[in-house]
Amino acid sequence: MTWQPVLEAPAAPSPVSFAHPSEEEFAGILDFYGVKWEYEPRTFPLVEELGHVSMAFTPDFYLCDLDLYIELTTLKQKLVTEKHRKVRLLHERYPDVQVKLLHRSDYLSLLAKYGFGPFSEFDAAGIHEVLISASDLERRVNELGSEISRDYEGKEPLLLGILRGVTCFMADLMRHIALPVTVDFMSISSYDGEQQGGVRILKDLEEDIAGKDVLIIEDIIDTGMTLRTLLDTLWLRRPASLKVCTLLDKPKRRIAEVPIDYRGFTVPDEFVVGYGLDFRQKFRNLPFIATLKDDWRRVQKTQKRPE
Ligand code: IMP
Ligand code: MG
Repeated sequence: MTWQPVLEAPAAPSPVSFAHPSEEEFAGILDFYGVKWEYEPRTFPLVEELGHVSMAFTPDFYLCDLDLYIELTTLKQKLVTEKHRKVRLLHERYPDVQVKLLHRSDYLSLLAKYGFGPFSEFDAAGIHEVLISASDLERRVNELGSEISRDYEGKEPLLLGILRGVTCFMADLMRHIALPVTVDFMSISSYDGEQQGGVRILKDLEEDIAGKDVLIIEDIIDTGMTLRTLLDTLWLRRPASLKVCTLLDKPKRRIAEVPIDYRGFTVPDEFVVGYGLDFRQKFRNLPFIATLKDDWRRVQKTQKRPE
């Protein structure tokens, strides 16, 4: 029999039957955060004797986006020692393969890394589910940057970010635009279901946009009312061109028809937070886009709003 460096295990049956409950729990966490995984997809031969594989290692999970194998450890010290040994052998024999032993206590740091670290348990409990994972955001923002770079070739667009929800998107997007750009910001008060008073400019541009190629960068377009007012105001200032790029489009509640030239994702009619977007100023620093639990939001709304 010819020796194969890596044996492909047969395709995992669906649904996956896990060997241990902690593996199922871990898979649930990965699903929650939108991290793609495969269960025990590969077996690595570690030691051969007389042409036979006498020791092999099948890590529990493979996370494709991170190109990383994960082996969960149990509390039994004997097994942990054995696993450490296998990981060491794997490193020696397959130096390009990344594998990490994950202790149960590592779950917490994993949660922190993926975004719940800064929140109290109470606020974290308000999150319903992750709608767009950090890696999907990164991929899409990268694509949008390339599209914009192509379309504006030879020009020097002025990126006009609408505060405050746009902060994460703007910071990431501008670094994927391979052109000279100018950056400016506006802040607009908009109806959020609670406050009234119409769409007002709270902070105006610092740059003169006459004759410039202006690209409005928005976090989310919902009813379209904010953007409609903004477009009307900005056209009066005679830019050479005026286009719109939004990370999220929530078309279900559209009242004012607005042109959208670049769209990251279309989202359902649910309240979303994270990656800059807030609910009462909270959750902006989540690295992913999540939906909030309806009942949690209702409870919050009955409480007095902090001034
Ligand atoms: P529009 O005028 O209804 O299109 O409202 C757009 C603005 O409302 C966005 O720029 C956000 O600031 C806010 N907004 C709308 N939907 C959401 C949401 O689901 N989460 C957070 N903010 C939202
Ligand atoms: Mg906004």
